[in-house]
Amino acid sequence: MTTKIGLGLAALGRPDYINIRSEHDIDKSVDAFRTNALKILDESYQLGIRDFDVAPSYGLGEQFLQDWNDSRAYKDVNLSTKFGYTYVANWEIGFSGKHEIKEHSLEKLNTQWEVSKALLPNLKTYQIHSATLDSGVLTNATVLSRLQDLKQKHNLKIGLSSSGTAQVNIIKEAKKVNFDGVDLFDSYQVTFNIFEQSTFEILKQLLTQGKTVIIKEALANGRVFPNTKFPKYNPAYEDLKTLSGKYKVGIDAVALRFVIDVLKPTLILSGGATIFQIKDNLKALNFDLDEHEILELKSFGLTPEAYWQERSDLKWH
Ligand SMILES: NC(=O)c1ccc[n+]([C@@H]2O[C@H](COP(=O)([O-])OP(=O)(O)OC[C@H]3O[C@@H](n4cnc5c(N)ncnc54)[C@H](OP(=O)(O)O)[C@@H]3O)[C@@H](O)[C@H]2O)c1
Repeated sequence: MTTKIGLGLAALGRPDYINIRSEHDIDKSVDAFRTNALKILDESYQLGIRDFDVAPSYGLGEQFLQDWNDSRAYKDVNLSTKFGYTYVANWEIGFSGKHEIKEHSLEKLNTQWEVSKALLPNLKTYQIHSATLDSGVLTNATVLSRLQDLKQKHNLKIGLSSSGTAQVNIIKEAKKVNFDGVDLFDSYQVTFNIFEQSTFEILKQLLTQGKTVIIKEALANGRVFPNTKFPKYNPAYEDLKTLSGKYKVGIDAVALRFVIDVLKPTLILSGGATIFQIKDNLKALNFDLDEHEILELKSFGLTPEAYWQERSDLKWH
């Protein structure tokens, strides 16, 4: 199976998002974001991207994707969305509270589905947003049956996304869920990158079992780019710089290529916020790393505890 690159709308639908750069000199009005999002969706399609991922909590991202999907009416795009988080920052720039509230209840599923179903029939994958063991969603019989019901009625793949130190255990728990011996979950959206590789074995197993594996945060929210705030990554930064020079692509393309070569996932999500970033990201499809280079990059994985502690300290900009 050849890995594809898809586009995630997390940075396109709301004025603030997690990244590591604080200076963004851009117009943050709703109109400007809508125009930009539709333009980026059009240009991404022209560049060959056919997979687009969104969630109700990405501000107006789901609305922008619906507008684009309805007006362009392409028949060859695969859309994915999620349920479980609600956007509450109300487009307030620099909003200081929590931007997203999590709720994995049947009521939330039904309410969000009523909006998301407008993406049908191009909606192919419907996911639990950030499933955790704590939220109990993976043992909530009413939520799971409702997902099974949606799967059968609309011919959807049911998936989940995971974050945090327990990603492996979340996937293990999800694999147990079945209806009449048939797995509920067909698709797993997981964080995997040079610094967080703890899911390697289980993702390989999922791929062997024919499941869809979608990689998010492949650039570690921008931490793969040289940054004086993270001196512990200097050896990785050196290596990435050498490989970027050798293959004449950006560091982003090397980091994405690492994921493609080591894991061969079904899809990697680009989180690019500009068409320049997306074009740079797509260069990952045009070269291969050799075995020695892959091993070298593999050596930079942190423990999940160290990785996720740092991730939770990142600010929204
Ligand atoms: N299900 C979940 O819980 C969940 C969580 C996170 C993400 N996701 C999905 O995964 C997608 C991708 O994840 P992500 O955007 O969070 O993480 P990411 O791909 O690790 O990082 C994206 C960031 O990298 C920087 N970047 C990308 N290309 C660049 C380039 N060529 N040059 C310089 N900087 C570049 C940008 O930072 P700047 O903005 O600073 O320019 C961009 O925001 C999201 O859109 C979303 O669909 C899902």
